[in-house]
Amino acid sequence: EIGPDAGNTLDAIRGTHEFIAGAPSETWGYSQDYLGPLLRFRRGRTANISVANRLDEPITAHWHGMHVPGYLDGGPQLAFGPGETWAPELPIDHPAATLFYHSHVHGRTGPQVYRGLAGMIIIDDPEIDDPLPRNYGVNDFPLIVQDRGFDRSGRMTYNLGMMDRMHGFRGDEILVNGVIRPKLTVPAGLVRLRILNASNSRVYDFRFNDGRQFYQVASDGGLLNVPLATTSLQLDGAERAEIVVNFSDRSPVSLVSHDIGMGGMMNGGMMGDRGGSMMMDDRGMMGDRGMMGMAGNSGTTLDIMSFDVGETAPVGPASLPTTLPADAPELGDPVRRRDFTLNMHTGGMMRGMMGRDGQMMGINGEPYIMDRIDETVRTGETELWRINADMMMRHTFHVHGTSFRVVSQNGRSVDPARIGWKDVVRVQGPTEILLRFDKLASQETPFMYHCHILEHEDAGMMGQFTVT
Ligand code: C2O
Ligand code: CU
Ligand code: CU
Repeated sequence: EIGPDAGNTLDAIRGTHEFIAGAPSETWGYSQDYLGPLLRFRRGRTANISVANRLDEPITAHWHGMHVPGYLDGGPQLAFGPGETWAPELPIDHPAATLFYHSHVHGRTGPQVYRGLAGMIIIDDPEIDDPLPRNYGVNDFPLIVQDRGFDRSGRMTYNLGMMDRMHGFRGDEILVNGVIRPKLTVPAGLVRLRILNASNSRVYDFRFNDGRQFYQVASDGGLLNVPLATTSLQLDGAERAEIVVNFSDRSPVSLVSHDIGMGGMMNGGMMGDRGGSMMMDDRGMMGDRGMMGMAGNSGTTLDIMSFDVGETAPVGPASLPTTLPADAPELGDPVRRRDFTLNMHTGGMMRGMMGRDGQMMGINGEPYIMDRIDETVRTGETELWRINADMMMRHTFHVHGTSFRVVSQNGRSVDPARIGWKDVVRVQGPTEILLRFDKLASQETPFMYHCHILEHEDAGMMGQFTVT
């Protein structure tokens, strides 16, 4: 379980965690055996955090989604070694939101996050009146959702096969806050769930097993303009959503995910002969949905967790407001456009398939290199970024240092009110985002943009930019 108490020290330590009873796994955490504590920051304050590295390899602490300058961002250039401490003073200048923190060492983000160097951040804004359930642990719960693989003895493993290198790692068991299929007791009323997909690559399509309606009230960067009624919610890696669920009918219910199979990992269209091996699903079989499915379900339903309605009287608001106090600065028209192509291969196909050099993927034809600045951005100028992929594969695109608006996906324009402020967007075809930076990032500590499928990021699908 993740405690509400942030403290101000994060010690990256080794631990053991029994995901499966009787089978302790070797894990890492920030001040915990596995994962880190919930960090709760207040807008307008400064958070002093001291991160100590008690492991035997370099780590960082990246405040994913938070608007802080490059030298505080915890990107790859800010890696610090065993025995060292990094003590940033973070000015909290971000609307109320559910964010993410994790280690971000180039080439090691996947294994480090997998081991447990990750956690959730909640930002409160004393200037707004949050009309939603907000009693932490009573009617407001963090759900850090991850998939993990286990060997026959029940110990957590991270073995990347060829398919994992291509599509990103997928494990068979789903954890919520480090627990396999937990049960949560909730009051018989409105409950807010802050869901963070902290998986390395798995995409979830959340629903309740009885098909009940719920409301999405926030996305990555904070509150939406209005609560959105829905029965399903897709989250790619590193995306967050806050939802409000009504449990007043008192019936036990579970949160499930309709598995997005490999068919859903393709973005449609033919792969050509290079793609032959990608037509297989998890079991190495040709899926009957083939590779044509757009976010097609493979038909499997994964159990995520279950809810029991307790005897306690409902607390907090009895109904949802019709509008929410969303943060809505005007971005205006873009003064510049940039194009990014996510490349599955920057070298030969065979080298890519082998993947042992760890540098076969890239953006705009180049794998990530720590001392090359790929873009230079000016503060205060609104830009349109157009993201594409060179193969029919589903990716995500994450940008450090700001939140953005999604303008269009696959040529269709998107209603920003329905998506809100984002820092990760699914890329299944041409995707346009509108963004502006207020925080600076120097050549020594630039901001990153990358695919948040961590195996892609580690393989070089990342670039970096300064903001001056
Ligand atoms: Cu979640 Cu560049 O990070
Ligand atoms: Cu980030
Ligand atoms: Cu990717």
